[in-house]
Amino acid sequence: MDQIIVTGNGELSGEIPIAGAKNACLTLMPATLLSDEPLTLTNAPRLSDIKTMTELLSSLGAEVTSLQDGQVLAMSSHDINNHVADYDIVRKMRASNLVLGPMLARLGHAVVSLPGGCAIGARPMDLHIHGLEAMGAEIELKDGYLHAKAPGGLKGATIEFSFASVGATENVLMAATLAKGTTVLKNAAREPEIVDLATCLRSMGAQIEGDGTSTITIQGVDRLHGATHPVVTDRIELGTYMLAPAIAGGEVECLGGKLSLVQSFVDKLEQAGVEVTETERGLKVARRNGRIKAVDVTTEPFPGFPTDLQAQMMALLCTADGTSVLEEKIFENRFMHAPELTRMGASIDVQGGTATVHGVDQLKGAPVMATDLRASVSLILAGLAAEGETMVSRVYHLDRGYEHVVRKLEGVGAKIERIKGS
Ligand code: EPZ
Repeated sequence: MDQIIVTGNGELSGEIPIAGAKNACLTLMPATLLSDEPLTLTNAPRLSDIKTMTELLSSLGAEVTSLQDGQVLAMSSHDINNHVADYDIVRKMRASNLVLGPMLARLGHAVVSLPGGCAIGARPMDLHIHGLEAMGAEIELKDGYLHAKAPGGLKGATIEFSFASVGATENVLMAATLAKGTTVLKNAAREPEIVDLATCLRSMGAQIEGDGTSTITIQGVDRLHGATHPVVTDRIELGTYMLAPAIAGGEVECLGGKLSLVQSFVDKLEQAGVEVTETERGLKVARRNGRIKAVDVTTEPFPGFPTDLQAQMMALLCTADGTSVLEEKIFENRFMHAPELTRMGASIDVQGGTATVHGVDQLKGAPVMATDLRASVSLILAGLAAEGETMVSRVYHLDRGYEHVVRKLEGVGAKIERIKGS
């Protein structure tokens, strides 16, 4: 297995281009199942998760052609001929469950494997099922698969989510575009990836209002047509690279970054003493001198502080002046990076969903293990300012959500390399 070796190398400077969003692309790709006309995505990220979604859609009979070095995905599900999303693919990536709503709406039936356990939490699908059943679907769990059917087609309904789930909102939103009548989603998720999905669906002829707010209204239509849609910027990749100069010092411009995508995160960075300025091309981040100040962080659904930046923020706060309290409110088991950071000399107490980080003067390089996608990149960020070498193993986690990490960080002066495993 490959490893990434990072050596603390002082301040960073330069620019980092930010790619299209993994979590937008993973819901935009299944939208192709809603129409028999082509859907083309531009600004697509080049990640292993996108390859897995391509594999899944191809297994259903859709065509997915990757163009322009993978940044354009030309898709067509004109000839879908299979309605079973197989466990062997779904177990590799939970977002595979986002084919359920579109297939049910288009074909009237779907069989989708339940994803099974995940490192960061139980992650059930009860809210997805609740929403689709409210639209008249009959869903049964058999042999680890959800068997869903809507013989008479889906019908509009008013659905209130007990939690603003991103995935449940996306699945039900896609299904509602072809349902008979009006669907109203209450306490819906407000993430930018949902707005991007709704924007794409509107360009396919869907009638959707209120995306980005907690109440989304969808007027069902008989069919959707083809479209071309640019994937929104990846706000989590953006936040991750904004933390690199915050941790190592220096100044870096993140090209394509937008404040509206990361406002609550930027509020915390500024509280910690980091400068963030909007430029014509993106967001510039600078930490000149002086130590980072301790700040408290609580993860929440958008527009609150994103859980997908919690691990990276913890890496910053390990060397803050003072004690920071991080509360993880979205996932029940998302502090597995803490013991690895502790191996690098950090001082962190984890009690349930709360991590108390006592700032230390300096971290020290050590061999550490990636446990999930965001944990893996937090270890690389910590290594940027640690004394000596940090060797991060199991970096396949990283490939799921970050393209060209070594090239991007090297480009701003980091000392980093990838060692191919045997
Ligand atoms: C999306 O996951 C993202 N993944 C996650 O990013 C992200 O952490 C999460 O939203 C929250 O922002 C993709 O978009 C592919 P949820 P999703 O449904 O849709 C509970 C990354 O690092 N819940 O909003 O699975 C669930 O257990 C990944 O890129 C139910 O209880 O998130 C969790 O505790 C990790 N029942 C909470 O809600 C349900 O039916 C949030 O889940 C659905 C969810």
